Amino acid sequence: MEIVPSPDVIGAEIYGVDLAQPLPDAEFGRIEAAFNKHAVLCFRSQKVDEPQLIAFARRFGAVERIFLTHYAHPTYPEIMLVSNIKESGRDIGHADAGRVWHTDMSYTTRPPRATMLYALEVPAENGVVLGDTLFSSAADAHDSLGQERQQRIAKLRAIHQVAGRRARTGTGQEDQALRYQQPAVVHPVVRTHPHTGRKCLYVSKGESEGIEGMPQDEALGLIEELADHTVDPRFRHIHHWRVRDLLMWDNCAVQHLASHDYEWPKHRRLMHRITVGGTVPV
Ligand code: OGA
Ligand code: MN
Repeated sequence: MEIVPSPDVIGAEIYGVDLAQPLPDAEFGRIEAAFNKHAVLCFRSQKVDEPQLIAFARRFGAVERIFLTHYAHPTYPEIMLVSNIKESGRDIGHADAGRVWHTDMSYTTRPPRATMLYALEVPAENGVVLGDTLFSSAADAHDSLGQERQQRIAKLRAIHQVAGRRARTGTGQEDQALRYQQPAVVHPVVRTHPHTGRKCLYVSKGESEGIEGMPQDEALGLIEELADHTVDPRFRHIHHWRVRDLLMWDNCAVQHLASHDYEWPKHRRLMHRITVGGTVPV
């Protein structure tokens, strides 16, 4: 097995491993260590069916199900379809994932440790791949704040709500009814990574709605400032997709964004997505 770090502050590619096969513990241990270190891992040219994807995800923890159940794989409800494909005029999967910088399901009490996307169809035009996924290191973003600002935000807690400000950005309208059923939760603005101990910024513009005990204007200003800082280009890593990439990211250590630079029916994009349970942020 070979681990090739990207030139960015996060991201690595792993070669010489076949994720369709059961992984010996030692090999899994190296993958898990690389995951904690690099936060975004890409395994190229994998050929994994649904049970194999689920089995690999289970090595990292309990596999979860998303509340948007209408996008679940028809046979394997642990897998969600992320896709822009329409069949009989209806979206076969979640067509709208990740339009604003975010970390997955921060609006739940125990957000997932990891998200995996396995690429079945990748859009391209004139040989140029579309639909990149962008990542930004929330740990490096925290490290780069001055000590004074780190101290100022160290004890703050933010309110996260999936049906909040994102509704006002005009995305995801079709799922708003389900979103409004999700209660708001409160998490620390600075999370300690459960495996590395690194401190990570944990607010996003899409889902952080306020800060406990802070006037709303001031809170939204601070969220805006910290969220912008978190996704500054110097902390960034961009994934250019190839069919059969299995990509996984750490939802504490990074935020991510989908580039929706492709459109149905000219372009087709289809991913199998799975999330692995995490810990209550502290
Ligand atoms: C997600 C997500 C980004 C993408 O599945 O959580 O944000 O590029 N996806 O599909
Ligand atoms: Mn996401």
